[in-house]
Amino acid sequence: KQANFIAPSILSADFSRLGEEVDNVLKDGADIIHFDVMDNHYVPNLTIGPLVCEALKNHGVSAPIDIHLMVKPVDNIIPNFIKAGASYITFHPEASEHIDRTLGMIQEGGCKAGLVFNPATPIHVLENVMSKLDIILLMSVNPGFGGQSFIPHTLDKCREVRKLIDASGRNIRLEIDGGIKINNIHEISKAGADTFVAGSAIFKTDNYKTTIDAMRMKLVE
Ligand code: DX5
Ligand code: ZN
Repeated sequence: KQANFIAPSILSADFSRLGEEVDNVLKDGADIIHFDVMDNHYVPNLTIGPLVCEALKNHGVSAPIDIHLMVKPVDNIIPNFIKAGASYITFHPEASEHIDRTLGMIQEGGCKAGLVFNPATPIHVLENVMSKLDIILLMSVNPGFGGQSFIPHTLDKCREVRKLIDASGRNIRLEIDGGIKINNIHEISKAGADTFVAGSAIFKTDNYKTTIDAMRMKLVE
């Protein structure tokens, strides 16, 4: 298992002061920035794109930016995110016609590539792409909105994927996204995750550092 990362999702940040919000969570202990891209087509919401990623990089954000693409199709937007300074780019397998090609495109652009699985999406595709993945993202809510509740059966999926990763012998990150709070992060960590996305749990609290510290205390190594 890799070092634990706490990844605040800026979906719940104050967008009128985004640069400052990102600076603050990083100063307060976040490891990477989770960046939710929604297209009002693959998911029922519309958010931010490559221009905002580039603006954060120009603002001086040096921490890795973790682009979670909830868009369909995916291929045409990937070069823009590579240019905009992304570090990780993940997409949902059902949003790409040619998963292997899309993963290759991300990696040829110098970014880490991964697949995202919705709560009800089976993971059997992993069998054929494990050797190409840098990260696997398990959704613990249905994608589209912040502030939803963690779906408990994701924990079984998490344990299953942890086994697959360990058996592969590769350094693949296991990220979980949706409904992660101080009171459930320990259980999720025990199930094998090493990268924890939290939007509302961090940005809707007054003191980011207190929240991030409390989360980190509950993680198992
Ligand atoms: C949901 C997004 C999440 C969202 C999580 O589609 O992928 O990253 O911001 O928000 P919380 O942590 O509030 O569930
Ligand atoms: Zn996300």
